[in-house]
Amino acid sequence: MKKRVFLIVLDSLGIGEMPDAESFGDLGANTMKSISKSQKFYIPNLLAMGLGNIDGIDYLPKTQQPTAAVARLCEESKGKDTTVGHWELAGVVSEQALPTYPEGFPEDILDEFTRATGRGWLCNKPYSGTQVIKDYGREHLETGKLIVYTSADSVFQIAAHESLVPPEELYEYCRKARAILKGRHAVGRVIARPFIGEYPDYTRTTNRHDFSLEPTGRTLLDHLSENGKDVIGVGKIYDIFAGRGVTEKILTGTNDVGMKTCMELADRDFNGLCFINLVDFDQVYGHRNNVDGYALALSEFDAWLPKFLEKMTDDDVVMITADHGCDPGNESTDHSREYVPLLIWGEGIEKINLGTRPTFADVAATTAQLLGVEGFEAGTGFASELTENSALVKLAREAMERSYSPYSGFSVGAALLSKSGRVYTGCNIENAAFSPTVCAERTAFFKAVSEGETEFEAIAVCGGKGGEITDYCPPCGVCRQVMREFCGDDFRIYMVGADGGCRCVTLADILPESFSPDNVK
Ligand code: THU
Repeated sequence: MKKRVFLIVLDSLGIGEMPDAESFGDLGANTMKSISKSQKFYIPNLLAMGLGNIDGIDYLPKTQQPTAAVARLCEESKGKDTTVGHWELAGVVSEQALPTYPEGFPEDILDEFTRATGRGWLCNKPYSGTQVIKDYGREHLETGKLIVYTSADSVFQIAAHESLVPPEELYEYCRKARAILKGRHAVGRVIARPFIGEYPDYTRTTNRHDFSLEPTGRTLLDHLSENGKDVIGVGKIYDIFAGRGVTEKILTGTNDVGMKTCMELADRDFNGLCFINLVDFDQVYGHRNNVDGYALALSEFDAWLPKFLEKMTDDDVVMITADHGCDPGNESTDHSREYVPLLIWGEGIEKINLGTRPTFADVAATTAQLLGVEGFEAGTGFASELTENSALVKLAREAMERSYSPYSGFSVGAALLSKSGRVYTGCNIENAAFSPTVCAERTAFFKAVSEGETEFEAIAVCGGKGGEITDYCPPCGVCRQVMREFCGDDFRIYMVGADGGCRCVTLADILPESFSPDNVK
């Protein structure tokens, strides 16, 4: 069990289009690939962790000896915004994207808003925040009407001059708007945008305030805080979850302050989750199509990382991921529907490649498992995969030494973990008549079944010539069929590489469309 998990979200660092990217208008989007072409791109530490080993990343160097477990994550939610992405990382999948208003808000919503505030409105279009006060500021001051505008995001923004509408009054209007924007008009955020100054030199003040939508389901943050764990939200985490489940918030604003805060928290004794959002990648560079700026920001994060990891104790785990894409290298300045990377680093965490996972929610489930807080319903946790295979690999390696393979000279060892927790080993046993030869995997299975075991979790397999592991040794077709007899789709197969590192696949991965006991029922 771990004491602290640091979950760092590099806002918008996608790693390539999802299969349904076209329906989001994001064909070909690949944030990481775009910034990797910049001269400013230098990320040796992330590459050493195994970033280049992630599925689909064929434009970065791979490493034989990664220092972290890696995965590619699909976004299951039907969205690509910050809120939906973070909710899914915390275990809440959204069936629908949050509503956006490229044509402005419907009249009935604005009528209700006028009735609730006693003030009219101006603009009602997607607009740049600095331009909107320039274009409508004077009329606002003359008429007392509020400046209502939106963006490509799911936001209802209200700008007002502080001399006419003091921030507290503006916040009250925002709360009224929040109460109106429900159901299918449940926008992600209502934002107060106070400004000051004389025409044309209006400037926005730091009294901006976000009124977020509450998560639509139970989140990891709720689960952990209800179970007595600390949940520290750094950056915009508090806002994204409307404060729910956050036991302490630290607002940061920029990557620099975010990273500095992380460093301080690394020295702090707490028990639970530190959930960090680094916003500049998205806000400052992604949306402004600034490829070099984005690349430099990632290089800075990379340079910061070793100093942070140095502070980690044996009881800590660091996860690095993202919430969606925002490719600065294509025409769009909007978010993009992309896969995101996941790196998991910590003492005792196996350096496995988890392949492609179907939902960000697996991060939430795994975090709950790592922190020993059982009972979180969403996603599929893979904490056991991160920790179980070291013992299995060792036993498979030992079994390989007992291989009886005088004819092929190819020795194989296997270690099979049953659901009861017992491990059965096996080696390949050859025969001069060749056809009676039995593989290591089947030896292990038949030993286990003959001892009364019929349910299994995972197997580790290693093999090679001359008693050395030469390469990954995937189970042969016959052994796969034997696995199908006793194991479900999620049975895990750890294939051990020459460097001792593992590749993890499931039975569904290596035996799709299979003939199973169900077919003969
Ligand atoms: N072998 C295994 O034990 N497991 C596998 O997954 C592939 C092959 C053995 C059978 C034979 O003794 C040798 O490797 C060469 O085929």
